[in-house]
Amino acid sequence: MSADIKRIAVFTSGGDAPGMNAAIRAVVRTATYHDLHIYGIKRGYEGMIKGQISRLETKDVGNIIHRGGTILKTARSKEFHTKKGRKQAYEALVAHDIDACVAIGGNGTFTGASVFNKEYDIPFVGIPGTIDNDLYGTDFTIGYDTAINTAIEAVDRIRDTADSHNRLFFVEVMGRHAGFIALSTGIGSGAASVLVPERSKSIEDLISMLKKGANRKKLFSLVIVAEGNKIGGATEIAQKVKEQFDYYDSKVAIIGHLQRGGAPSGFDRVLASRLGFGAVEALINGESNVMIGLQNNAIAYTPFKAAISKHKDLNEDLLKMAEILAL
Ligand code: F6P
Repeated sequence: MSADIKRIAVFTSGGDAPGMNAAIRAVVRTATYHDLHIYGIKRGYEGMIKGQISRLETKDVGNIIHRGGTILKTARSKEFHTKKGRKQAYEALVAHDIDACVAIGGNGTFTGASVFNKEYDIPFVGIPGTIDNDLYGTDFTIGYDTAINTAIEAVDRIRDTADSHNRLFFVEVMGRHAGFIALSTGIGSGAASVLVPERSKSIEDLISMLKKGANRKKLFSLVIVAEGNKIGGATEIAQKVKEQFDYYDSKVAIIGHLQRGGAPSGFDRVLASRLGFGAVEALINGESNVMIGLQNNAIAYTPFKAAISKHKDLNEDLLKMAEILAL
């Protein structure tokens, strides 16, 4: 056990994700088990800069494992991008005698932690918490499973009305830079096509896919569009398709932030508990500047540098399968 670590701070940063509370709970309980003092920082790096740091006891994380959002609140901090902001954050950590931090968040969170670790000697371990599942070094991020279940449930409802009216629906799901949510939602909801930022599909290709359905007298259809899709979001795609192919009456539905809320799935609760537990153990064992993740169902560490710069690819086989199953 690292003799230097006595006080750990935990915070959530960036977009919230269902399961973050389960991770906070696991961090607090594991630290307490090891007789470490644990502190919560409110609103991510914003709160760190402002010194919004207070003690968390084991009872403070009771009755939160099932709750969406984050009890520590979250923010995307512009100030932390500046040297001055990071210096203030460091001074606040020192003022509270914090020896190490657990950062729960996504790419932006770990970019901040990585820069901070170059300037200051406080060890950080990151826990991947984002619905996007777009972090290299972990098979799953906390919140992704819940988000795809929410999206699939929403598409099931859209399917009912699409079927009743013989309509074509373009459903937009989240994912600014990554198509993981779109691909899983598309497969899980039996969509005719999935449009993701990583692969460009032309309007002509999409229309030819829809025509195949129309030729076999398919009366309604569903297309899942990731918000970051390169040739446009659901609204633009729907407009472009309508101009060239008016076989269906088409509609657009944007699921939006509904995907970020709600009770975490069982999978996310277990994942968050494992990663929260593992993050504290990692700090105790002297790890720093790494993201903890799950690879082939085992805990693995990835340097922040790799987690934020390496690209996690969509599974080509799944993309192909989605197309085949839609035929
Ligand atoms: O990174 C998670 C995410 O939900 C993305 O899928 C989405 O593009 C973005 O956050 C939305 O961010 P905000 O809530 O700040 O608009």
